[in-house]
Amino acid sequence: MTAADIQIVVLAAGEGTRMKSALPKVLHKVAGRSLLGHVMGAVAGAGASHVAVVIGPGRDDVAKEAAQHVPNAEAFVQAERLGTAHAVLAARRALERRAAAVVIAFADTPLVRPQTIRRLADAVIDGGAAVAALAFRPADPKGYGRLITEGDRLIAIREEKDASEAERAIALCNAGLMALSGAEALPILEAIGNDNAQREYYLPDAVAQAVARNLKTTWLEASAEEVMGINDRAQLAAAERLLQERLRAEALAAGVTMTAPETVFLAADTRFGRDVVIEPHVVFGEKVAVGDNVTIRSFSHLEGAVIEADARIGPYARLRPGAKIGRDAHIGNFVEVKEATVGEGAKANHFAYLGDAVVGARSNIGAGTITCNYDGFAKHRTELGAGVFVGSNSTLVAPLRIANGAYVAAGSVVTRDVAEDALAIGRSRQTNKENGGAKLRTHLAAIKEAQKGKTKG
Ligand code: UD1
Ligand code: MG
Repeated sequence: MTAADIQIVVLAAGEGTRMKSALPKVLHKVAGRSLLGHVMGAVAGAGASHVAVVIGPGRDDVAKEAAQHVPNAEAFVQAERLGTAHAVLAARRALERRAAAVVIAFADTPLVRPQTIRRLADAVIDGGAAVAALAFRPADPKGYGRLITEGDRLIAIREEKDASEAERAIALCNAGLMALSGAEALPILEAIGNDNAQREYYLPDAVAQAVARNLKTTWLEASAEEVMGINDRAQLAAAERLLQERLRAEALAAGVTMTAPETVFLAADTRFGRDVVIEPHVVFGEKVAVGDNVTIRSFSHLEGAVIEADARIGPYARLRPGAKIGRDAHIGNFVEVKEATVGEGAKANHFAYLGDAVVGARSNIGAGTITCNYDGFAKHRTELGAGVFVGSNSTLVAPLRIANGAYVAAGSVVTRDVAEDALAIGRSRQTNKENGGAKLRTHLAAIKEAQKGKTKG
């Protein structure tokens, strides 16, 4: 969307006591991204010219997370947690700019879409409202403020704790997001008092303040899915479910095949090429990019991985951060890849650990191969050239280099570098004893017979 003279204020200073968590509520994640991150993403998409975020004292982690998504967001500290209107006033300097519209968004409402933020701003900029509230009709209105209307006029918003029996029966609830005219925002917010059940300065009281000044108020409606607020872990799980449905639908629409989409879990930043096939029960963590024609088979778990075109992953594969899987490479069952590049056409088809490694193009990693990258103190790298063949059950002790075309015999413990086209055999030599098997059998049978005699006697 094109940038307009909109000041956004994201409120993220609440304690989130209902989460019962050591982590601030807005840093809890859905679909691999913090609640705050989702809201900042929507804010960025709305084309606002200025973004402020209100954080609690000492919450550098929250400020940092906001800046991850909107680098030029200004952080303001709300020293005391005295309510949502009080929180907006913490961003006083931003309000003094008198933007055409000020839109307040709650960091605990992660599914909000950029268009909705823009529609609210437009209700002020084009619609001439001093206050535009966002409403919705949740299945369970418990805990939400109710919109008191007269015809198409919005008179007030009543918090549940202050509402009468009749007001609690109102289905139209406050989503929290609100747009104020830039010219009226400061005087309206400063006039809000705390004479209510919670002794807090309520942002929703901006409506009654505008009405008292004979200014225009209005509301827009959004779907209950889009504006659900997260105050506890049950709502966090509900938001996860809704967001997963949204992400799956987007992936399907973009040309991804999923045989059982309801069993696939995506992250907000998962990227897919065309004609990707995802079998049932695959989990995507943050920062995964999947190229064209990639197949990801069942029960795979991927995080921080880049997969190039035509690769095949799984079933039961684990790709950890820093995994780069080249074009047409195969990562099979029970293979774990961490901070490792697997070259074009290379294969690790069964039971392997590739950590801090480079595997050259067309190399073959046999079943049971382990890169021993950690000595208890530091991590070391294993570098394999192109066309290397590593026999099954090999232990590659890093730091180690195995040059192009080299061959590692099955069952080897490789501790020294291997030159190009060389054969490394790192295991004890086998001896075969003629008739030794028969002798052993006779010997063991005799022992067993002697034991039987003892227990009988
Ligand atoms: C709020 C609304 C309610 C609405 C609901 C929608 C108020 C008084 N009530 O209630 O009408 O139906 O959201 O989800 O606004 N925050 C601060 N500083 C504070 C208090 C809150 O930054 O002093 C932030 C919180 O981090 C959160 C947001 O403001 O992101 C909303 O606060 P919360 O306590 O969740 O309000 P609700 O009780 O959900
Ligand atoms: Mg809330």
